[in-house]
Amino acid sequence: MQSNPFVRYLEAKRTVDDRALNRPVWSELARLVTDRMVRDARPLEVLEIGAGIGTMVERVLAWQLFGPQSHAVRYTVLDADADLIATASARLAVAPPWLDLRFVTADALAYAASAAADGGQRYDLLIANAFLDLVDLRRALPLLRGLLRDGGSFYFTINFDGATLLEPAIDPPLDAAIEAAYHRTMDERITDGQPSGDSRTGRHLFATLPANGFAIRAAGASDWVVHAVDGAYPADEAAFLRFIVATMEGALRNHPDLDSVHFDRWIAARRAQIDRAELVYIAHQLDFCGVAG
Ligand SMILES: C[S@@+](CC[C@H](N)C(=O)[O-])C[C@H]1O[C@@H](n2cnc3c(N)ncnc32)[C@H](O)[C@@H]1O
Repeated sequence: MQSNPFVRYLEAKRTVDDRALNRPVWSELARLVTDRMVRDARPLEVLEIGAGIGTMVERVLAWQLFGPQSHAVRYTVLDADADLIATASARLAVAPPWLDLRFVTADALAYAASAAADGGQRYDLLIANAFLDLVDLRRALPLLRGLLRDGGSFYFTINFDGATLLEPAIDPPLDAAIEAAYHRTMDERITDGQPSGDSRTGRHLFATLPANGFAIRAAGASDWVVHAVDGAYPADEAAFLRFIVATMEGALRNHPDLDSVHFDRWIAARRAQIDRAELVYIAHQLDFCGVAG
């Protein structure tokens, strides 16, 4: 069993994301990628930022984004966390011969800023899954745009958008107060002295992407919907739910708007609902793909 809880969470999240990712957005991405491969024989240069343990690489292979027997693809897997990149590199040790994988530990925005400063590498496809809601879009999007060639494609998915639903209700006023306080922690988060995150990232991307040179070709919902089937959660999704509840606990412990005794009881009740395979969790999110103009 995986000992790093975040790695286990990212592994468990894979089946949740597989169900959630918006299929019309995926189809449009596949069309854009195929067009580029037909038009241009050069290897396709792909960069994924905030790539975690590399589950999106596994997915694009399983879902054949690059076709059944592909055109050469150079895929750079980037994350700020060196342990995650080491895990990704071990998980992806066996890749098809046409896929040249590179692993980079770096802050995505620093990487983009340095690429812009030295006229460095530009990519044909930029991927960010469950990432853009962790950064300040005003700072990030102009830098990320600089990583794409004109006409290159982007695939920005699982962008949180302001709704966390947990059923069955425990105490509706307390449930609502916890949801609101949890979303405020995303809005007020500061990382390394910078604002980082927005609980309504998804809807804000409809304006901020085009304003920064990303023309949207397709958008749609990619809500996480986790529930038991025949009395058990699929795959490792009980662990996924436990991580979500632990994240809420960590974010809201000692929160001034919440009574700590009531909050601790609420967290214990949510854990008991997971143990009974009763908890239903829904997070509203949005996916986008398109072209750098
Ligand atoms: C919610 S996880 C998603 C990981 C992966 N995309 C997935 O869906 O499984 C967010 C990831 O972004 C990485 N991250 C956060 N801020 C970053 C930054 N500024 N630069 C690069 N990676 C970052 C974290 O280390 C983490 O792996």
